[in-house]
Amino acid sequence: MKYNIVSLDGDGIGPEVCQSAVQVLREACGVGVLNFLPFEGGAGHYQRSGHVLPEETFSACRSAHAILHGAAGLPGVTYADGTEVGNDLHLQLRFKLDLFANVRPIRLYQGVKSPLADFSAGQIDYVIVRENTEGLYASRGAGVNLRGEVVTDALVMTRLGVERVAKFAFDLARRRSGAPRDHVRRVTVCDKANILKSYAFFRAVCLEVSQSYADVQIDYAYADAITVHMLKKPDFYDVIVAENMLGDIISDLGAATVGGLGVAASAELGLHHGLFQGAHGSAPDIAGQNVASPIATILSGALMLRWLADKHEDATLHIAADRVEKAVEDVLARGDVMPADLGGQARCTEVTQAVCRQLA
Ligand code: IPM
Ligand code: MN
Repeated sequence: MKYNIVSLDGDGIGPEVCQSAVQVLREACGVGVLNFLPFEGGAGHYQRSGHVLPEETFSACRSAHAILHGAAGLPGVTYADGTEVGNDLHLQLRFKLDLFANVRPIRLYQGVKSPLADFSAGQIDYVIVRENTEGLYASRGAGVNLRGEVVTDALVMTRLGVERVAKFAFDLARRRSGAPRDHVRRVTVCDKANILKSYAFFRAVCLEVSQSYADVQIDYAYADAITVHMLKKPDFYDVIVAENMLGDIISDLGAATVGGLGVAASAELGLHHGLFQGAHGSAPDIAGQNVASPIATILSGALMLRWLADKHEDATLHIAADRVEKAVEDVLARGDVMPADLGGQARCTEVTQAVCRQLA
């Protein structure tokens, strides 16, 4: 089976890391399996054309098997309301393709130093499932600004939205082998149910969903408390499910505990579409210098292979995904070709070549 993958380089380091992941994925899958279709989009394209997500790009994304994205956003390129143009590429794709589950693995690899001194590789291995199409982000572009005096953004939740992301989280926990600490399959609901009705609703719907998963433990943590637990007892976590804004915040904290955004992969999944990218930004300050780490985008590419394998019942892509992840783990464990964000001097192309050599 040939898979059409839209590759959306984007802005800043986006082209470097996206092209790196394309090279690794081609090496892992062999010729003729993945057909990459490069398309334009992002803040730079907006500056040139007035469109952050051109129609031809969106229709290609809608009909492709998956989307691989570098990063988008350039400083100072904003709309009149002050929000960033580049991020709009990403957010438009999320909302128009209904990518409701933003899956963010938080895993400490051998060879990567965690700031959490008491934890080593294998002891931090959980996944944050961030609801990705409502919550506070539902107000993007719809907030109120009255005479520059009063501004509001509403936090919106729907039963459908919470149910489907909760089911996704429980299904994911069912497929994993539990938290490193006790191997208990667990979904931790992260909210502020003690304060706001919306989060109490989020918690209540997650509890309803959990009734169908007797084999998965439900656990609760307020968003402020979980930031402490993620540092003090990260090995307790298996799957964490959270509303959009809270998920955005805790996923960066989680990434920081396992080496930083340079190793933070993400898969943004809907019923019919998947967008895969490193959870980092476009890092314009280091763009074009071949110093960005491609690890997050390469690992996102492995998530893409797994998602395609499940969706199309194609076991060969699971094997390819295993090989990509193993190649990354081996390069990190060996430690002689490390990107700058992990304390090394290796350039983006050197890390890419090291992963490709490992694959070969
Ligand atoms: C993320 C980013 C995005 C978000 C930006 C780039 C739109 O921070 O994916 O975590 O705010 O969700
Ligand atoms: Mn973020």
